[in-house]
Amino acid sequence: MKSKKIAVYPGTFDPVTYGHIDIIKRAANIFDKLIVSVAKNVHKAPVLSVDERVELLNEIVASLGVENIEIDSFDGLLVDYLKNKNVKLIIRGLRVVTDFDYEFAYASMNQKLCPEIETVFLMTNEKYSFISSTLIKEVAMLGGDVSGYAPEIVINKLKKKFKEVKK
Ligand code: COA
Repeated sequence: MKSKKIAVYPGTFDPVTYGHIDIIKRAANIFDKLIVSVAKNVHKAPVLSVDERVELLNEIVASLGVENIEIDSFDGLLVDYLKNKNVKLIIRGLRVVTDFDYEFAYASMNQKLCPEIETVFLMTNEKYSFISSTLIKEVAMLGGDVSGYAPEIVINKLKKKFKEVKK
């Protein structure tokens, strides 16, 4: 019997954007199961908590009506998380050339740490190639319109968060 192809799409998702959602939909189409996993990222100081990011992803994925996507979170090394789950594929989206150096370093290090794990890259839809979670947060914080870049529930959550911070 052929084994199921399971992949993990890790990210900080602070917040999830239409760019991420595009990668999620396409990866779920390619693999038997996709686990979208929220990282407690040590380098970034996220605006949304891990629970809030997981909740948003769950709501968004439920609205897609796609059965083979699971939302999870992880702490520590990505390769350890994959080993625990017995998964050997990492999905990442590639935007403009500037992503390449960063992604190349991560993929190479992950392969050194665990040679049987492969990283598969999907080219980001060009509509979203210039957006980032940071840009969306900045524009939303300053009252700009970011409705074309993330779902309404994400934008409302950000607005609520920034209001709380200002108090
Ligand atoms: N469309 C639009 N934007 C996209 C995108 C897409 N398809 N894919 C990524 N982006 C943007 C995001 O909005 C985000 O923007 P930001 O930098 O302003 O926040 C940025 O590109 C990348 O963020 P994200 O996709 O959320 O992932 P990340 O790069 O923050 O995730 C981890 C990095 C979690 C995968 C990595 O840090 C990790 O594996 N951590 C675990 C610890 C570990 O194992 N470290 C050693 C690894 S060698």
